[in-house]
Amino acid sequence: MRLLLLGGSAFLGRAVAAEALAAGHEVTVFNRGRTAPDVPGVQAVRGDRESQEDLARLADHGPWDAIVDTSGYVPQVVGDAVRALANSAQAYVFMSTINVFPDWPAQPVTDASPLHECSPDAGPDDGDYGTLKAGCERVVARDFPGRTLSLRLGLLLGPHEDVGRLPTLLLRMADAGTTRDLRTLAPGDPASPINPIDVRDIAAFTLSAIDQGLTGAYTVAGTPSNASTYGELLEACIDATASAAHLEWLDSAFLETQDIAFWSELPIWIPPGDVPWDADTSRAEAVGLRCRPLRETVQDTWAWLTADGGEARRTYEPRRPHGLSPEKERALLAAWETWKRSHP
Ligand SMILES: NC(=O)c1ccc[n+]([C@@H]2O[C@H](COP(=O)([O-])OP(=O)(O)OC[C@H]3O[C@@H](n4cnc5c(N)ncnc54)[C@H](OP(=O)(O)O)[C@@H]3O)[C@@H](O)[C@H]2O)c1
Repeated sequence: MRLLLLGGSAFLGRAVAAEALAAGHEVTVFNRGRTAPDVPGVQAVRGDRESQEDLARLADHGPWDAIVDTSGYVPQVVGDAVRALANSAQAYVFMSTINVFPDWPAQPVTDASPLHECSPDAGPDDGDYGTLKAGCERVVARDFPGRTLSLRLGLLLGPHEDVGRLPTLLLRMADAGTTRDLRTLAPGDPASPINPIDVRDIAAFTLSAIDQGLTGAYTVAGTPSNASTYGELLEACIDATASAAHLEWLDSAFLETQDIAFWSELPIWIPPGDVPWDADTSRAEAVGLRCRPLRETVQDTWAWLTADGGEARRTYEPRRPHGLSPEKERALLAAWETWKRSHP
């Protein structure tokens, strides 16, 4: 199979490229050559997806059996690529998100949940991330003449994660006892549910979906059989890094009184109430979605960070800041001691 990846050098796109090459497919990636080096073995076409000229030049490298778009965020921009490549491929897979559902994360979501209202021609200022992604799904379905498929992804983890979530937790544990305190803040209840998905499992599902000729939209997130807990996540980080960190679990009632950016300063954690992990993946499971255990994702992410003398660990630069500073973590732990005394 001949595949074109719009992006293809970072995190999810990279995993799709690696999985496709390993399966013996021919892979073209289209990116600007800024974010990360391409996976060895791909054919790289340099260009900017916001340039009509670059898109026209890209089309000359086709045809492909399928296009996988991991880097589309704005309907106008996605529409330009869809129309420029309309005669160059049989199928278009758009990597969307469960943020397209206005009900998420307050309510459980299924493939039948309503989507945000968003025009297929919307520009960058016409909505937030999830709203614009809904518009992107619409422009792909409207303007691509072949088979189209949107994968509404839940939270992704895995090797080459450049967002900042799992690497921040791993590095915090690894540094316990050296540059960071052994006493480590752990939020809420260790039994609170968590169900991220490994990018490599999404990559495998994507290739299988293309192979099967799937169309429409599927929610692709952690499956119930791989559901885990926040406690298991932190313990897996401690084990992977051979850390001596001592976890101190702080009540969510206390954390909610503090000035904390949940989900980022405390990666992947929000106070109880919302249900960010409650996404129905049964349709995707029925057509082959399989998820590896979270522990394997954690171990392999640490293996990536520490490979080749730890180059990725030394130079790690997340897309967005994550984690607590040492000072803030210490201050929160001290405030927690006071809070406990007044809330026996
Ligand atoms: N992270 C999560 O938990 C999560 C959850 C749900 C859904 N998702 C979705 O999953 C996808 C993540 O994709 P990803 O990890 O592969 O990263 P991405 O940020 O979507 O894409 C980065 C890739 O696109 C290229 N790129 C960026 N701007 C470009 C431009 N103007 N022209 C050409 N290439 C460009 C980058 O290379 P250059 O910079 O070198 O050009 C790089 O190869 C996204 O669609 C996101 O919405 C993520």
